[in-house]
Amino acid sequence: MVVGIYPGSFDPVTLGHLDLIKRSAKMVDTLIVGVLNNKKKVPVFTEEEKKSMIELVTKDIPNVQVEVFEGLLVDFARIKKAGVIIRGLRAVSDFEYELQMTQLNRQLEKSLDNIFLTASLEYTYLSSSAVREIASYHGDISSMVPAQIIDLVEEKYKKK
Ligand code: COA
Repeated sequence: MVVGIYPGSFDPVTLGHLDLIKRSAKMVDTLIVGVLNNKKKVPVFTEEEKKSMIELVTKDIPNVQVEVFEGLLVDFARIKKAGVIIRGLRAVSDFEYELQMTQLNRQLEKSLDNIFLTASLEYTYLSSSAVREIASYHGDISSMVPAQIIDLVEEKYKKK
């Protein structure tokens, strides 16, 4: 049984993330989407909001589980008995950061391997911060996030 983890901040999940979830779920027996509140970032959505949005948009993919984690990714991978970490590459600029993270993780846990998937062309421009910025100015995010969560994202900015 191959368990894979797709970790990230998902603040909020985008169509680009969902594309990677769908593609990588076909490569492993169980895919755990690991939701992290990255201490280097100030999140707009709570961990529970992020988790339930991902659950909503992945409910038709049977081998996907969504879990919140904190601490080191390698420790989360050990607990979940995961053998691979899945990450997306949107552009060459992602590569340097991903390479460094991979090498650090391998240093901490030799048995952990990585799969890098290139983002589908139509989503290479996407990021969660772009979605947040556009939503904060009440712009149209319908081509950026899954249809099921558009209202939830927009609602967040109505309250602010
Ligand atoms: N589609 C859309 N957006 C994408 C994307 C895709 N396919 N791939 C990446 N992104 C965007 C994200 O939306 C995010 O955008 P934002 O910064 O504008 O919000 C950005 O790329 C990168 O974020 P993300 O993929 O969520 O990664 P991260 O840098 O927040 O966190 C972890 C990456 C979780 C893997 C890493 O921080 C981690 O492992 N942390 C745990 C601590 C640890 O183990 N540290 C040691 C290892 S160095």
